Amino acid sequence: MYVLGIESTCDETAAAIVEDGRKVISNVISTSVKEQALYGGVVPEIASRRHAEYISATVDKALADAGMTMADVDAVAVTFAPGLIGAVLVGVNFAKGLAYAAGKPLVPVHHLRGHIAANYLTHQDLKPPFLCLVASGGHSHIVLVEDWCRYKILGRTVDDAAGEAYDKVARTLGLPYPGGPSVAAAARDGNPKAYKLPVPHVDGKYNVSFSGLKTAVINEVHNAEQKGQTVNVADMAASFQERIDQILAKKLLAAAADTNARQVVLAGGVAANGRLRQLVNDGAQKLGAKVFLPELKYCGDNGAMIAAQGYYEFQDGNLADWSLNGLPTLPI
Ligand code: KG4
Ligand code: ZN
Repeated sequence: MYVLGIESTCDETAAAIVEDGRKVISNVISTSVKEQALYGGVVPEIASRRHAEYISATVDKALADAGMTMADVDAVAVTFAPGLIGAVLVGVNFAKGLAYAAGKPLVPVHHLRGHIAANYLTHQDLKPPFLCLVASGGHSHIVLVEDWCRYKILGRTVDDAAGEAYDKVARTLGLPYPGGPSVAAAARDGNPKAYKLPVPHVDGKYNVSFSGLKTAVINEVHNAEQKGQTVNVADMAASFQERIDQILAKKLLAAAADTNARQVVLAGGVAANGRLRQLVNDGAQKLGAKVFLPELKYCGDNGAMIAAQGYYEFQDGNLADWSLNGLPTLPI
């Protein structure tokens, strides 16, 4: 079964064809990230406008790269939640029109389910149940994936998402958007023990909190400025990365130990972070659990992960009718 996946929740306009939820036939991403970087973050109105401009050509290219027309596609899957609503609506309405015109089923996909499914593209043997940390710009969840379309949230952030914390710290340090990759790059030359950053207290064994950590970085920068000094950007980037990744890995591994998880999985944009991958890999191996990490090219937003999850949603009978609407928030 060939599923066309369409994604437009943030600053990537993406479309892909995936066979049986596992094999990527084509994968096309158009992004407004360079323009967004001028503003230090995503400007929702700019994102929506660029989606509207890019989406038709992006979907056409995904079909052309696969050597297909809509006649060869068996279903259209689209991210309908959560995300920047003006951005989400571009993808949803495009997908509705396309599916209706071509007489194909329309499959609604939750964005975080898509991030988790990015792992199915690389790891052909990965099947639920597994424990997953989904860390992106908008969410940080520790999720028990009980079945292809059944999830139980064990822990979550009580304030900022991990990616959001990376982005805000990058901005404080004068590093470009998106913050995750630029903090990680700066951290390569830094000493992770240079700054003593706090471990925020949070209620709930598997919950995380990052706003105090972010504020601690901001305070260090301001204190240095008041003394006519500057923080060492590489050292601060390394110290922040070490602290936040340690927190994420520790919570995930605690949940893995308590639930006796046999498979531990990372997903979302922050899953591209090398130090986080290393910490989770080492810790899960000590627990005797198998570790699955998404390929770097599928960590960020893409259409292939939506097509992959779309396949399993279709198998589960989760189809939308022509009244499908986009939603800015929705539990997984
Ligand atoms: O999943 P994603 O592409 O979009 C959302 O659904 O939000 O995640 C984007 C987030 C951004 O906050 C970005 O800074 C972060 O993922 N990110 C990283 C890295 N690459 C992207 N964070 C840490 N280290 C990275 N290498
Ligand atoms: Zn995402």
